[in-house]
Amino acid sequence: MTSDESHGQSTEAGESTATGVRQSTQVAIIGAGPAGLLLGHILGQAGIDYRILEARDKDYVLGRIRAGVLEQDSVDLLGKYGLDADLKTNGLTHHGIYLQHEGERHHIDFAELTGRTVTVYGQQALVHHLVAEHERLGSQLIFEATDVQPTKIESAQIDGERASVAYTAPNGERITLDCDYIIGADGYHGVCRRTFPEGTLEVAERVYDFAWLGILADVAPSTDDLIYALHRDGFAMHSMRSTTVSRLYLQVSPDDDIANWSDERIWEALQTRLGTEGWTLTEGPITEKSILPMRSFVVSTLNYGRLYLVGDAGHIVPPTGAKGLNSAIADVALLAEALQAHYAGDDTGLEQYSDKALDRQWKVQHFSQWMTDMLHVHPADGSAEQSAFDFQRQLGQIRYVTSSHAAQVSLAEQYAGLPFVDAR
Ligand code: APR
Ligand code: PHB
Repeated sequence: MTSDESHGQSTEAGESTATGVRQSTQVAIIGAGPAGLLLGHILGQAGIDYRILEARDKDYVLGRIRAGVLEQDSVDLLGKYGLDADLKTNGLTHHGIYLQHEGERHHIDFAELTGRTVTVYGQQALVHHLVAEHERLGSQLIFEATDVQPTKIESAQIDGERASVAYTAPNGERITLDCDYIIGADGYHGVCRRTFPEGTLEVAERVYDFAWLGILADVAPSTDDLIYALHRDGFAMHSMRSTTVSRLYLQVSPDDDIANWSDERIWEALQTRLGTEGWTLTEGPITEKSILPMRSFVVSTLNYGRLYLVGDAGHIVPPTGAKGLNSAIADVALLAEALQAHYAGDDTGLEQYSDKALDRQWKVQHFSQWMTDMLHVHPADGSAEQSAFDFQRQLGQIRYVTSSHAAQVSLAEQYAGLPFVDAR
């Protein structure tokens, strides 16, 4: 089946029972973030039936502003499945990043160091495109599917039994959807992770004592590549969404209130933290501002029975390494291949999915925390001396990275992206 044919055609008519309507598909995907939407497209192109169940309405899903950098493997994957039409037009290829400290700015050239590049492309634009393509194909993408409840997930151990997902459709009808597999693409707050039987899933987690204040501004970016800056007042970053829209971030306290940050105060802090001699940060109207908490989080397994987790449902990184969206795409690439192999008679990929995805994810966790630690001011937890020590240590670290070829190759290799894992 090609991407031009309609897909995701699970049985709609179904059979009415006393408790509602019973329907069937091959793969039930819970969540229409980038992970769920992309998985649906890949399965559909392989001729595998699916239905995507999303709790929120379409406007909410399309309106969420998230990450903005795609690794080369993510770009290649979207291209492979013909999902890069908008990306090709609006994505901005970047050859590196700037690392800045104490007003000194150094370029790390990924293309020169590793032969790889990254693409600046908002997650919001990707979600828009994936939803539009689902609509064009007439996919089974159900918004406002409430009270979604996975059941019989353990049935992988019971011969012939299938799993099912119960949900309430937007028209109020309670539907039981029988399926071979349930995919939890429902993000950090989703229901799927909580469905694992007690004792089968553990969580490793770190919460940071700082957050990011992010803005979108209608002004051309003042930089060619992204700038990551450590300043005594805290981290700052200059990213972008297009040639006319800038995305900028400031380190703030996690319990700060956005109401404390007037546009004027935001620009002033950005000017101070990003300022270098001979460079101008051009200001413009701020169209969106919010405070984003930061955490590192990984589950001990992404699989129980017929239920598999992908993306934020299974792991979260702090945004400093731009790895959240790419990790979700890497999971999807691996699981989509494993599901295709299953329907061709080989279950090795499904059996190995969790181990392989988590092996890659822990390397990504290390990188994300390393970048985060290097670039943020660590608030004194009772000791000003410790905080002063950390700041000098971090300056030493940045000076090392910006002067060592080996350290730059390592940063570039990880930022441009560790290879996606093969399912076999
Ligand atoms: N039932 C149905 N849908 C649900 C439920 C539920 N019980 N709970 C959550 N969802 C939906 C959410 O409304 C959301 O649309 O699941 C979707 C999960 O999407 P994301 O949070 O975007 O997660 P994911 O697709 O894994 O994408 C990861 O998002 O947070 C960023 O940095 C992260 O870029 C990364 C990306
Ligand atoms: C973004 O553009 O939103 C962005 C870019 C790089 C990051 C985090 C966020 O590390």
